[in-house]
Amino acid sequence: MQERGQWGSRLGFILASAGSAVGLGNLWKFPYLAHQNHGGAFVLVYLGAVLLVGFPIMVAEIVMGRRARRNPVGSFALLATGRPGGKAWTAVGFLGVVTGFIILSYYSVVAGWTFHYIVLSLRGELGALASEPGALQVYFGQIFLGDGVQQAGYHLAFMAVTVGAVYFGVKGGIERVSLVLMPALFAILLALVIYAMTTSGFRPALAFLFRPSFAELQPSAILAAVGQAFFSLSLGMGCMLTYGSYMKREDSIPRSVLEICCLDTLVGVLACVVMFSIVFTFDLKVTQSATILFTTLPTLLVQLPLGDLANGLFFVLVAFAALTSTVSMLEVVSSYAIDELGWSRRRATLTMGVAIAVFGLLSALSLGGVPALSRVNLFGRSSTAGVFSSLDYLAANWLLPVGGLLIALFVGWFLDPRDTRDELETGRARLGRSFGLLRFVLRFVSPLAVGAILFSIIFLGREYQ
Ligand code: TRP
Repeated sequence: MQERGQWGSRLGFILASAGSAVGLGNLWKFPYLAHQNHGGAFVLVYLGAVLLVGFPIMVAEIVMGRRARRNPVGSFALLATGRPGGKAWTAVGFLGVVTGFIILSYYSVVAGWTFHYIVLSLRGELGALASEPGALQVYFGQIFLGDGVQQAGYHLAFMAVTVGAVYFGVKGGIERVSLVLMPALFAILLALVIYAMTTSGFRPALAFLFRPSFAELQPSAILAAVGQAFFSLSLGMGCMLTYGSYMKREDSIPRSVLEICCLDTLVGVLACVVMFSIVFTFDLKVTQSATILFTTLPTLLVQLPLGDLANGLFFVLVAFAALTSTVSMLEVVSSYAIDELGWSRRRATLTMGVAIAVFGLLSALSLGGVPALSRVNLFGRSSTAGVFSSLDYLAANWLLPVGGLLIALFVGWFLDPRDTRDELETGRARLGRSFGLLRFVLRFVSPLAVGAILFSIIFLGREYQ
């Protein structure tokens, strides 16, 4: 039996977990969801979702992981022994590992685009493409996405870097990478916020984001907010559970979860401030908000002073954020192979990394490179055409909420409350009454909120993202 890894410091754990949480979900999805759902009120509802669903479920995951000190499958196996449902709960852990495999396979395709944009910036070509009206749109949509060789190449490159980080273990790889990349990420984001403050769109952006207009709030926005909270906080597949399993006994779980949630939310909100400042400076009607990050934003930035530099920096920021997230997904899959199959870390990261990279080629080539893959549609909806979109829909709309719901139910109803309390109160925290409140939320509020999402997808046919 090899010695199990552990974080070297509390800061290392916080930055690695915040690194997992902060990713494409914050920089790409959150701004376009906020835009689609008319800003202010959506942002408020999102904060509510983080508090009522995100916070408690993250606590539940980390409690499980640190109690069991295993990967998701092993944790369920250990903690469910002798409780109702028994070993059947390991299926939930297994679902998490499979979900990690699937999400990483297509997430890394989008992450790979950031490498391409950095290369374009360094060659000075991004500025040129962005300054000619419509050119970047055409380049991105019709040339780049359809170029199977480039899509596959950048995806494989991103996977290689991810494997490289996880290969060196919890402390020597993941923590070390996070300790460098996360502060750099915060610095770049801060620089971009200061830059945004000098633009004329800054004030309208703040008004859009922070002046709620509830008249414009639709029920679908609430579902979108809950779904986004899951994705953005890396919940529902045992990612935080796995990171929690490397946490030291003496560190406080509630305090850490609070910090991770705050960092993640702050980055999402600041990313919105930057993007909307730029968009409002040009008084632009964003029609294709889903690709705003890769098509609209560069064309606007380039027209501002120092725009080329800001553009390049922006994609470095996105690449860093994505890397600390892909690393966390690979760690879930690897830790399963290490704990349950008895593989060495090297063997686990290389084998799983290669398997995910190869499977991900299907997504990379489904964006236009191989027409047969673009026609695959697992759910028959217009928005799920192609392997890439089908997998995203499956994972984000189904697998994560189902996983999160089951984790909340397991910890809320089946884990011994004394064990939960014991985990939560190490590190000198005394919870007092707030433990009862947390338990209530975990037993009733979070499951009902997530259940409502699933219900609405099934019966109202609504996609929540
Ligand atoms: N939270 C990351 C983001 O916002 C993505 C991510 C990493 C994730 N690990 C996860 C999403 C686990 C769901 C589950 O981009």
